[in-house]
Amino acid sequence: MKDQGTTRLLSSRVGCSGGCPGSHLSTQLENAGANWGRVGRVSNPDVPFGTDTRPEGWWRTAVVYQVYPRSFADADGDGVGDIPGITAHLDHLERLGIDVLWLSPVYRSPMDDNGYDISDYQDIDPLFGTLADLDALIAGCHARSIRLVMDLVVNHTSDEHPWFVESRDPASSKRDWYWWRPPRPGYAPGAPGAEPTNWESVFSGPAWELDEASGEYYLHLFSRRQPDLNWENPAVRQAVYAMMRWWVDRGVDGFRMDVIDLVSRDPTLPDGVVPPGGRFGSSHAAVANGPRLEEYLAEMNREVGLGAGHLLTVGEMPSSTIPLAQRVTDPARRELDMVFTFEHVDLDVRPGSPKWDIVDLPLPLLKQNLAAWQEGLAEVGWNALYWNNHDQPRAVTRFGDDSPEHRVASAKTLGTVLHLHRGTPYVYQGEELGMTNAAFTEIAEYRDIESLRYHAEALAAGVPEETVMRALALKGRDNARTPMQWDARPHAGFTTGEPWLPANPNHTVVNAAAAQADPSTVFHHYRSLIALRHHHPLLVDGRFELLLPDHPQLWVIVRRDPADPDHLLLVVANCSSQPVTVDAGDLPPLDGASVLLATHPGRSGVELWAWESRVLELGATRRG
Ligand code: GLC
Repeated sequence: MKDQGTTRLLSSRVGCSGGCPGSHLSTQLENAGANWGRVGRVSNPDVPFGTDTRPEGWWRTAVVYQVYPRSFADADGDGVGDIPGITAHLDHLERLGIDVLWLSPVYRSPMDDNGYDISDYQDIDPLFGTLADLDALIAGCHARSIRLVMDLVVNHTSDEHPWFVESRDPASSKRDWYWWRPPRPGYAPGAPGAEPTNWESVFSGPAWELDEASGEYYLHLFSRRQPDLNWENPAVRQAVYAMMRWWVDRGVDGFRMDVIDLVSRDPTLPDGVVPPGGRFGSSHAAVANGPRLEEYLAEMNREVGLGAGHLLTVGEMPSSTIPLAQRVTDPARRELDMVFTFEHVDLDVRPGSPKWDIVDLPLPLLKQNLAAWQEGLAEVGWNALYWNNHDQPRAVTRFGDDSPEHRVASAKTLGTVLHLHRGTPYVYQGEELGMTNAAFTEIAEYRDIESLRYHAEALAAGVPEETVMRALALKGRDNARTPMQWDARPHAGFTTGEPWLPANPNHTVVNAAAAQADPSTVFHHYRSLIALRHHHPLLVDGRFELLLPDHPQLWVIVRRDPADPDHLLLVVANCSSQPVTVDAGDLPPLDGASVLLATHPGRSGVELWAWESRVLELGATRRG
C-alpha cells in the first residue's frame, strides 16, 4: 500500500543531513553548521559554568561522550594517550555539540586492566599527566559548557593500593576491608580445589588468590591484581564517600560507577552452580544485585550529596533488570540517575554462555529489548542509551555493516535509532566517525587482559585457534581501544611515537579531519542528532512506541507528544544491507509531515535503500 501522502512525504521534503530548509530547527542547525557554535545549550555566558549552575535533571537533555584516555590523543609522544591530549582536542567535542565528557580512569594505577585497577584514588597516573592537568581539563570543559564525569571504580582496588597492602597483614585493621578467607575446610592452602568458593573470575581462572604469607585467599572477581573491597564494612564505604566528596569539591560534575551492581554480596559466599563440563561455578547469584545494593546506593547519594548537588550518576550494572533499574533510577528514591543495562549487548551470545560464544542477532530481538526498557522506565526512571564503550566492539561492525559500501549509512542509521529513544545517549570516542573493529589477525596484536586470558584458556581447553581468533575479532575489547583516528598521518595522528595499540589501517579514510571537512559524514550526522536533542522536546519527553516489532529489516519508532497525541516524531530506519519498501498502511497518517533528518538527502519514494533512515515530524503545525 503506497498512498499519496506517503509518497509525497518520503519524497518532497527530505532534507539535508543537517535539517530541512524552512523549519525552525533546520535554521538553528544550519547556523550551528556555519559557526561551529554551541547548539541548544541552556547556558548563560555571564554565569560561570560549574557546580552552581547544574539545574535539576539537566542530564535529561544531555548527550555524553566517553573518552578512553589511553587511546584518545597523545600529547607527549610516548605512545599512550594523556590528559593534555584530551584538553588539546576539546574543540572536536565542542563542534560535535556534546554536553558531558565521561573520562575513563586516569588515576594512579599499575595498569593491569588499563587503569580500572587503582592504587591511588586521589592522584593521576604519570602516564596520563598530573592533577594540574586534570584541573586544566575540567576548566577547559567548563569554559565550553561541557561537564566532566569521572569513572568511579570502587568494587575493587589495585593490589598496590595502600589499603590492600596493609590488609595483607592479618592483624591489620584493614584486613576486613577486603574479602580474606581461609581455604575450604579440609584443604591445605594452595591444594587443588582449596579456594574458599568455586567461583570463576570475569577474566577467566579462579576468583581467589592465595597469599602465601598468611595462608589465606583474597577474592578478586576480576584480575588477581584487582582485589574486591568489602562494602559490608562501613569504614570502607565512608572512605569511598570521602574520596568522592574530594572530587566533587575539585569541580567534577558526576560519576560513572564501574560494576556498581556487584558491591553487595551474600556474606555467606555460597558456591555457584557449575555448568555441564565446566571447571568453575558462577558467582552471579551471590554477588550481583545483592541484598544491600540499594541501601548502599542511597547512602552514597546522601553522604556525597549527589542528588542535592545535581551530579550526574550512571551505574554500570551488567546484571540489572528492568524492575531493579526502575527502582534505582526512581528520582524519589535518590539512588542513581540512570544505569547501563547489558541486556542488548548480550543478545548476540548463546544464552548462558560466555561472551565469546557468538550467535546471529535478529533485528526484532534487539529492538524489542530496547523497547522493553523504554516501556519499563516510561513512567518512573530514566534510560542510559549506548551501542559502544571501551568494553564493547564497534557498533558499526557489530550491529551495522562496516563494508566500504555501507559503513557510513549504517553508522548514521544506528546513531539515529539510538538517539531517538528516550534517555540520555552516550557516544563512545570514534563512534561519531563510524570507526570500525580493529581487524587484528594475530594474538600478538592484542593487549587486553581479558582477550589474552581467553585466548590462552580456550586454546588449552582445545578450542580451535581459528574459532578463538574469530571471537576476538568480533568481541575483543581492543576493538574499541585502537587509537582515535584524527587524520590520515601515520598512527592516525594519535601520537608522534609508537602507539601502544596499532591504529586501524582504515584511518587514511576514516578520520576526524576528513569527517569535519565533509558535510555528508557520520560526524555531521551525529552533530545533527545532538542538536536535535537540544532543540526538540519530543526527543526528551515524547512517549516511546515501537511499531512493526517483528519486521526483520525496519526499525520504526514513534515519539509522541504526551499533551497532543497527533504531534509526533517518526523514525523509519532500514537496518539491513538490502533495500526495503515501506508499507504506508503500517505508519501513522503522514500528511503534512516534514523530514528533520535523513541519511540520504534528496532520496524519494517509499523504498528505503540499504541502511537508509529518515526522521519525520508530524502534526507540528497544530502546535501554538
Ligand atoms: C568494568 C569496566 C571494565 C573493567 C571492569 C573491571 O566492566 O568497564 O573495563 O575491566 O569493570 O574494573
